[in-house]
Amino acid sequence: MKNYNFDKILNRRGTNSVKYDLLKERFGKEDIMSMWVADMDFACPDFITQAISKRLQHPIFGYSIRPESFFKSVVNWMKERHQWDVKTSEISFSPGVVPGLFLALKAFSKPGDKIIVQQPVYFPFFTTVSENDRQLVSNNLIEKDDYYTMDFENLEKQIDEKCKMIFVSNPHNPVGRAWKKDELHKLVDICKRHNVLIISDEIHSDLILKPNKHIPLASISDDAAAITLTLMAASKTFNIAGLSTSIVISKNPILLKKYNEAMDATHLMQGNIFGTVATEAAYTHGAKFVDNLMSYISENIDYVEEFIFKNLPKIEFKRPEATYLLWLNMKAYNLSDKKLMDFFVNEAGIAVNSGKTFGSSGSRYVRLNAALPKSELIMSMNKLKAAIDKI
Ligand SMILES: Cc1ncc(COP(=O)(O)O)c(C=O)c1O
Repeated sequence: MKNYNFDKILNRRGTNSVKYDLLKERFGKEDIMSMWVADMDFACPDFITQAISKRLQHPIFGYSIRPESFFKSVVNWMKERHQWDVKTSEISFSPGVVPGLFLALKAFSKPGDKIIVQQPVYFPFFTTVSENDRQLVSNNLIEKDDYYTMDFENLEKQIDEKCKMIFVSNPHNPVGRAWKKDELHKLVDICKRHNVLIISDEIHSDLILKPNKHIPLASISDDAAAITLTLMAASKTFNIAGLSTSIVISKNPILLKKYNEAMDATHLMQGNIFGTVATEAAYTHGAKFVDNLMSYISENIDYVEEFIFKNLPKIEFKRPEATYLLWLNMKAYNLSDKKLMDFFVNEAGIAVNSGKTFGSSGSRYVRLNAALPKSELIMSMNKLKAAIDKI
């Protein structure tokens, strides 16, 4: 089995990277560690760079199609990794998962309609709604001892005939839940009874920490399949987000047709030659890489868990079930969100995401990206401890 070298430190500064080359603009400082944006500091695996290099051998990069082999790789990946039977005819495209949320919004709702999100959640979930003349309904997650669950009672109370859709993050960014079957069944039951479509963003579906499992929402029942459009991508898992390629799946041909019409109307269906090639390579050869990656990330998370337990007990932290994103409850320090960010950036020297950007229920949390070489992670934890010791 090939082992990948996740310990290698790669300098990403000067590569037009959002995570590094926007530090000054976003945080006012460049010489800090970067643990914010959700991409990894690990090299993309060789089978992907080789596939891209092979395509580069031909010097014309004209309009291109997604070949049968692309769809086959998606079908096989869903079957092997997620035990989900999907057919080529059930797969479409989006130039990104967030554009997919937007296209779904265009396809299945009209101005004034209500869309439900469950905060704290990845912020484009609610900006996509509020910036496009729809009404945002937030059914906040319930938090107990830093473990989050869906508030089914409140969901049912809030739904009215104007609610057309719910955006679900499965697994959930930033709280790291990999939703369980019984939770998904309850959600589907409510949505079906109230004619609410489910847009299930499953971009983190391959970043699962043992012993948890990703359950594709649409796979749990015929009812779920009938009301769900699923958005997935190889982008997070294989560090290819800059190639702007993701996939859209629905078992309901009417939903898929409407989605495709919205995409055709915006001419976004063309895609990116290298994104097609990279995604196919990822889904064809990626299984071992993902297993190796997730063991490494799991050890990184073990390290943070132990470090916090021993050295920073006022930080409340629950190990995520999925993703490499750590959701740290900093309430015990009694700092405002602004002061908390100022502390991380200027005292600890670490760029993180402010929890508040994920909705007001994320106030006084921070999101920390743990997909980086262990030596760098250790450095960041020591910097955090040194800064906290001075408070
Ligand atoms: C839940 C979730 N959806 C979507 C995205 C971004 O997707 P894309 O870059 O394909 O638009 C992210 C990135 O962090 C995410 O966490």
